[in-house]
This record gives sequence, C-alpha cells and structure tokens, in this order.
Amino acid sequence: TESQTEVRKGLAGVVADYTAVSKVNPETNSLLYRGYPVQELAASCSMEQVALLLWTGELPTEEELAEFTARERAHRALTPELKAIVDALPTTCHPMDVCRTAASVLGAQDPEAEDSSPEANLRKAQKLFAAMPAVVCYDQRRRRGQEPVAPREDLGYSANFLWMAFGEEADPAVVEAFNVSMILYAEHSFNASTFTARVVTSTLSDLHSAVTAAIGALKGPLHGGANEAVMETFEELGIRADESPADAEARAKAWMEEALAAKKKIMGFGHRVYKHGDSRVPTMKAALDRMIDHYGRPELLGLYNGLEKAMGEAKDIKPNLDYPAGPTYWLMGFDIPTFTPLFVAARITGWTAHVMEQVAANSLIRPLSEYNGPDERHVPGA
Ligand code: SDX
Repeated sequence: TESQTEVRKGLAGVVADYTAVSKVNPETNSLLYRGYPVQELAASCSMEQVALLLWTGELPTEEELAEFTARERAHRALTPELKAIVDALPTTCHPMDVCRTAASVLGAQDPEAEDSSPEANLRKAQKLFAAMPAVVCYDQRRRRGQEPVAPREDLGYSANFLWMAFGEEADPAVVEAFNVSMILYAEHSFNASTFTARVVTSTLSDLHSAVTAAIGALKGPLHGGANEAVMETFEELGIRADESPADAEARAKAWMEEALAAKKKIMGFGHRVYKHGDSRVPTMKAALDRMIDHYGRPELLGLYNGLEKAMGEAKDIKPNLDYPAGPTYWLMGFDIPTFTPLFVAARITGWTAHVMEQVAANSLIRPLSEYNGPDERHVPGA
C-alpha cells in the first residue's frame, strides 16, 4: 500500500546506473576520471587531453592529440548565423540563456544532428567543445560594448579562451590556473545536469538536446550557478583592496555568523555527495592562492578564510568547488554572470561522455511517483 512505499526525495542515495566515466568517492574525498586521480590530471594535462580521456576512456597518444587539436582549432569560430542569433538576444538575459540557446542552434546547424552513432556523437561533442568558448567570450564582450576577438589557431584551448575573452595574451600562470579550473569542472558522475543529459538521451533524443537541457539544469544556484553566487557574497561583503587580510577575515566571519543565524543558505558550501569536503577544492584553492599572489589581492584570502572558518565552526559544512573557483574567475577579469558559462564550457566534455555511455547501454529513464493528491472523485453530472 502507498504508506509503505519509500520515496527518496531528490533521489538522494539512489544508484541509478553504472558509469565508467568517473568515480566520486565521498569516503576518501577522491575523484577519478576514467581511473586517473583528477589532481594528477590537473597537474600534468591540458584540457584537450582530459576531454579526449573522458570521451574515449584513454589518454591520447601524441598523434591522437595532434589530430584532435587541429580539428578543435578549426571549429572554434562562430558562424555568422549564430552570431546574429546571439546578437538578437537582449543583454538583460542571463549569459546562461545565451549558452543554452547557442547549444540548441549548434544542433540545428549540425548536419549530423540526428545521427547518434558513436562516431557522429563524438564529432558533435568535439565541435560543441570547440565552439562554446567563443560563445561565452563573444557574449561577455558584447555586453561590455567591446568588439569580438577572433580565435587564434596558434594557442591551446585555455590560452585561446582567455585571448578571446580579453583580447590580450594571458600570463602563463593565469593560463595554467584556468586550465586547472576547466579540468576540475569537466566531470562529476551523476550530478543534476549530467543526469538531465542522460534522461534526455534515454528517450533516444539527440546529443544537442541533451546538452541544451543540461545547461538549463546547471544554471540553478544549487548547482553550477553557485560559482556566481559565491562572488556575489564576496561583493556583498565588500572587497577592499586596502584592507588587511586579518581585518577582511574578521569581517567575513561576522557576516557569516549573522547569515547563518538568519538561516541563510550559503552558496559554495555543502554537497549532496561529499560530506567531509569536496575532492577538488584543495587543487582549486591552490590555483586561487597563485592567482591572489599574481594579482596582489591578499584581502580576498582574508574574506575566503573568514567565511570558510565561520561555516566550519558553526555547522561543519565544507566548501565545494564553486567556492574557490568564483574568486579565481573574478581575479582573472571575468564578469560574474559569465562564471557559470565557464562551467558549461568545461562540463560539455563530461555531459557528452555520459550521453555516449547512455546511448551505448540505453534504458529509458522513467521512475515512479507516489500519488498524494485527492482520492478518486467525480465530475458533477458525469
Ligand atoms: C555543484 O552533484 C554534484 O556533483 C554537483 C557538482 C558538480 O560538479 O556537478 O559538484 C557542482 O553543484 C556544487 C554545489 C553547488 N551548490 C551550492 O554551493 C549551493 C549551496 N549548497 C547547498 O544548498 C547544498 O549543500 C547542496 C544543494 C549542494 C546539497 O544539498 P543537500 O544534499 O540536498 O543537503 P541539504 O540542503 O538538505 O542540507 C543538509 C543540511 C541542512 O541542515 P539541516 O536542515 O539538516 O539542519 O545541511 C545544511 C542544510 O540547511 N546545509 C547548509 C548548506 N548546505 C547544507 N546550510 C547553509 N548553507 C549551505 N550551503
């Protein structure tokens, strides 16, 4: 009977399928992409190598990497049609709406849109991965009233991303930190957006539809939108270039204590799966530390530590990846609403790897619900 049915709200703790793409281990705070610790990948690989690893299951050989790199660079530029569609969107809309629209348009433009063979899906995934940085940068620049910057075929993925965003070659230290962030954001098992992509794929819909839906799921502040919300917290607190780290820390602690007393949900903290800390945070925090040194903004570290310590003391809740990623992107000069689109650009790799895995061993995703509406009743006179 209905009262005996166990309902798992939010599918918490439910194992919905197998995956060979990544393994999240909350007990050991570890994360493996296709068996490789994410920390090792972040320390020694390019985003292009990690993308190929996620899609194919293996790190590429030099020839495979060279072949992919050439294709990726050839597909970076936006078509005039896509630019016109982006230009038609109001600059008052969220940049995630632009990403979502662009993913949909790229599907409509792709002659292989309806071909879900492994080969076609891989090609489509690679083209989306190649084009999304240009979408993100084109949109940020148009909002700033700046001319778009064309991609450069002589630069790697991360260096070119920063080039298209800011129109100047980024310092190698900045490129490295950005590359680390992209790798850490690339994949994370059955998170809400990836599961969304798998649900769409399970109906035998197409890859671009799955990615478009996933972007919608990522937009929310309980998921990818948190990296923007973190920076809004920092801005609400006030970032004061002349403040000592100790003063900033004290101010942040006081702010957090007050926010928690008011039962506020603090973005960038907590995680559905990790309860003792997010496996990616130490690597991203180290990149943030390097950027704080590079840009000479130690007061940010004070704010960061103050919020983290106060949250730890009050609730023992740890930061997630969005917490160090937000201020890192801010230091690099991205506009806050562009932060979640940066997450999109990275996660396209994981989403599409899961789409291909879902296609290969598909079963329609269709859970049950427990009805709790009115008992059967009848239309008067029927
Ligand atoms: C991502 O799933 C993934 O893998 C996602 C992701 C990926 O790579 O794909 O890792 C990316 O989405 C990171 C998460 C980004 N979201 C945020 O930073 C938003 C803030 N965090 C939370 O709202 C929350 O921690 C969630 C949504 C991330 C997880 O929530 P759960 O598992 O549903 O847990 P919950 O909200 O039921 O919280 C349990 C308890 C509650 O307290 P009690 O009611 O039991 O007293 O912990 C408290 C919560 O109030 N809590 C928080 C909190 N997070 C949890 N309290 C204040 N601030 C928080 N951030």
